[in-house]
Amino acid sequence: EQFVQNNLTEEVKNLLSALPKQNGWMISDHLYQYQNVWYPAIHLQALLSIQRNFQALDTDLVIATNPKCGTTWLKALAFAIVNRFRFDNPSSKQDHPLLTNNPHILVPFLENFYMIDQHPDLTCLSVNAAARLLSTHIPQAALPDSIKNSKCKLVYLCRDPKDTLVSFWHFSNKMRPKNMAHSSIEEVFEKFCEGAVEFGPFWEHVLGYWKMSLESPERVCFLKYEEMKKEPKTHLIKLAKFLGSQFSVDEENDGVPEEILKLCSFGNLSNLEVNKTGKMPIAGYELSVYFRRGEVGDHLNHLTPEMIERIDKITEEKFLDSGLKF
Ligand code: A3P
Repeated sequence: EQFVQNNLTEEVKNLLSALPKQNGWMISDHLYQYQNVWYPAIHLQALLSIQRNFQALDTDLVIATNPKCGTTWLKALAFAIVNRFRFDNPSSKQDHPLLTNNPHILVPFLENFYMIDQHPDLTCLSVNAAARLLSTHIPQAALPDSIKNSKCKLVYLCRDPKDTLVSFWHFSNKMRPKNMAHSSIEEVFEKFCEGAVEFGPFWEHVLGYWKMSLESPERVCFLKYEEMKKEPKTHLIKLAKFLGSQFSVDEENDGVPEEILKLCSFGNLSNLEVNKTGKMPIAGYELSVYFRRGEVGDHLNHLTPEMIERIDKITEEKFLDSGLKF
């Protein structure tokens, strides 16, 4: 909290003082509502800098998600796809970067560059890569014009809100400072339904990218976690094609898609030393927080039938006429 306070500009401090605020979930920080979306202060500062200063390239590939929708998995898959010619047999090569680096290091969040630096050096993203691979939690409506007006491609991954909120509940409790009490599932459920979680409301976030994917399918690939779990190969092939790295017939015959899926599987990634014992540079939290169960339907173990009914009703109402379902 002190670190955040020390690094906020006067402009952002003034802005924050005029915004609605709520208690935050992870650090003893707050969430601020800006243009109908709830952000932690430092993320709002990053957003404003990104909107002003980020220059998208037509070749950029951007992964966009609501938190806890499977970002880590998608980052690993996208990285393995676009870099596969550097490592011709992805899972047998001992030097594959995914074996020794967490996916969040290989595919960083755009926001992290801009939290305290208004003009960060992004050259590290271009080293050894044909395209810059980035990620963001920024909602579609708040994307900088530079992204909206460029030809860069976006991949959006969403997930059943019930599993997302259960995942968020576990994650946020792990990320809370030791001196803060754990939040209850009831508390998180209420706030999630109200939309008062990082980058929330959840449903508007999904709808923004869903609409963009319908209007510009060549720019936005819209994926669902549940469908990827059910038919991983089909979706991997679709993803590779969208990213401009289509698998050749030979590659498919040689089982390259299967190798990539194995490399990026929950079982493989979560058992790597780096992800079991490693820590996030600078922030210092354990990288194991990104791996819990990696399954569909865990909400059945945590939400009551009444909660499920209530949230399903919200989803149905919000997605009415959109063509989206969970
Ligand atoms: P659970 O908490 O339900 O297990 P994010 O990456 O957006 O933070 O999302 C985290 C969720 O994705 C967690 O869900 C986590 O276990 C799951 N996950 C992480 N790596 C995965 C992988 N390789 N395959 C499938 N799910 C994965």
